[in-house]
Amino acid sequence: MTAITATGAIGATASAPASSAAIAGYNEAIVRRFTIATVFWGVFGFAAGTWVATLLAFPELNIGLEGSFGRLRPVHTSAVILGFAGNALFATSFYVVQRTCRTGLWGGPRLANAVFWGYQAFLIIALTGYVMGITQSREYAEPEWYADIWLTVVWVGYLAIFVGTLATRREPHIYVANWFFLAYIITVAVLHIINNLAMPVSFVGTKSYSAFSGVQDALIQWWYGHNMVGFLLTAGFIGVMYYFVPKQAERPIYSYRLSIVHFWALIFLYIWAGPHHLHYTALPDWAQTLGAAFSIMLWMPSWGGMINGIMTLSGAWGRLRTDPILRFLVVAVAFYGMATFEGPLMALKPVNALSHYTDWTVGHVHSGALGWVAFMTFGALYYLVPRLWNRPLWSLRLVEWHFWIASLAIVLYITAMWVSGIAQGLMWRAYDEFGFLRYSFADSVAMLHPYYVTRALGGLFYLIGGLLFAFNIIMTIRQPAPVAAAEGAAIAGAAPAPLRPTAGS
Ligand code: HEM
Ligand code: HEM
Repeated sequence: MTAITATGAIGATASAPASSAAIAGYNEAIVRRFTIATVFWGVFGFAAGTWVATLLAFPELNIGLEGSFGRLRPVHTSAVILGFAGNALFATSFYVVQRTCRTGLWGGPRLANAVFWGYQAFLIIALTGYVMGITQSREYAEPEWYADIWLTVVWVGYLAIFVGTLATRREPHIYVANWFFLAYIITVAVLHIINNLAMPVSFVGTKSYSAFSGVQDALIQWWYGHNMVGFLLTAGFIGVMYYFVPKQAERPIYSYRLSIVHFWALIFLYIWAGPHHLHYTALPDWAQTLGAAFSIMLWMPSWGGMINGIMTLSGAWGRLRTDPILRFLVVAVAFYGMATFEGPLMALKPVNALSHYTDWTVGHVHSGALGWVAFMTFGALYYLVPRLWNRPLWSLRLVEWHFWIASLAIVLYITAMWVSGIAQGLMWRAYDEFGFLRYSFADSVAMLHPYYVTRALGGLFYLIGGLLFAFNIIMTIRQPAPVAAAEGAAIAGAAPAPLRPTAGS
């Protein structure tokens, strides 16, 4: 295995003076823009999540159609997945690909800016549409055909920049983080185009009909849905992990070989697991079993990544006590391990018979979303902001507060959902001695109330953590004088670290 010699410019530029970035021709302005967009959409998405959680606990707060749960739920999911996580991936992938290829972004600043503004415009078109009732009713693919075409154009620009930068790299090796980023960008393009094939009713209207029907439609939709999780929320963030964990820990990756093996296994297996969303439906039984079998196999490459991330800390565990940024990153990897342990179990038909349609699924989603995706983003942005603006992080103490408040929030959210979800599933299948259902559906809804209040409280804590995060970043940026690079690095708690694999790995 070729060792990546990401020393010198690559290893050091993370904390090098801004001028060296300029000399190398790095486009940092675009990374700064996507970083700010990530913070904005994060706070917005958490607030929307907390509000829809409150609506579920207190349905009387649903006011009018535009303010109803049904219209606001996709505002939350799109804001966090496409707005928060999506912008975070743009920011980190553009930063990482430049540093590890030792070259500026291909296509120049104009193309990069067009992608930035095009993507934000897509988000605004999509979200305002939902509130007005414009939707395809496909989960995570709600935007109508005109917004889909717009996103396709933006995404092609993203792919061109990324591939162009890789093609013009000045470093012989392609660092593994870029493999994951590339897999995510290509796969999201394919998923988006195929799942959104539709016939508009008119060229001025906002309605279309899917190119697929019946169970094929469902299969395409869940092939899309599952792989958005697999490639956007997983492969993309593993790319983030492979750059920022070694950097912040100041350790090389535990095993470079493992990273390559689990990369190929992950992308090959993920794509087949979608049918686990359609157990006990009209989908042929063999396809459901196939989905379950591939989900079980996914356990291995998922844990390969998790072990590689965690073991990168070997020899640096003590730093977890003093470095809350590293703690965000490592706890994120631990949540990744947990969500990918739970997922294969839920993909087994007997377990899914209990979990499907219940809050257990929502608990699973948010252990991955709040624990893995968002914690990885917080860690990466706390690392990036001091380097992008060449100022020390305003308050490390506030990062510490953010970490504990957000951790408490996750515990409240996911334990409430596990308990309510399993209780729901058990109530729906409970029979009395005469063979009648023991509980009505309304009984199971009434049972949920305290858990929904607890989840809303968890959401509020998570939102408060998000506001501390935004405040800390704004204060960092607003600090008057840029400090010397070395000082900045010391305050941010990270010195340059080589991205070199351990000997023999
Ligand atoms: C090996 C990895 C994983 C497997 C095998 C897996 C499996 C599953 C299964 C079986 C379901 C329930 C399907 C249903 O009953 O309808 C599910 C739902 C879901 N999972 Fe995972 N999961 C994995 C990892 C993750 C991770 C890391 C995340 C988040 C970052 C995630 C996000 C989701 C989402 C968003 C849904 C809900 C889909 C819906 O709207 O119904 N999963 N997953
Ligand atoms: C303050 C934090 C958050 C709160 C309070 C929150 C709350 C909620 C609520 C109430 C729902 C609807 C559940 C239902 O229909 O029963 C939901 C769905 C969802 N949220 Fe969040 N959320 C938060 C953060 C996030 C983040 C950061 C992500 C992703 C990165 C995320 C991804 C999702 C997804 C994928 C669904 C759909 C789940 C499914 O269909 O099974 N959420 N959220």
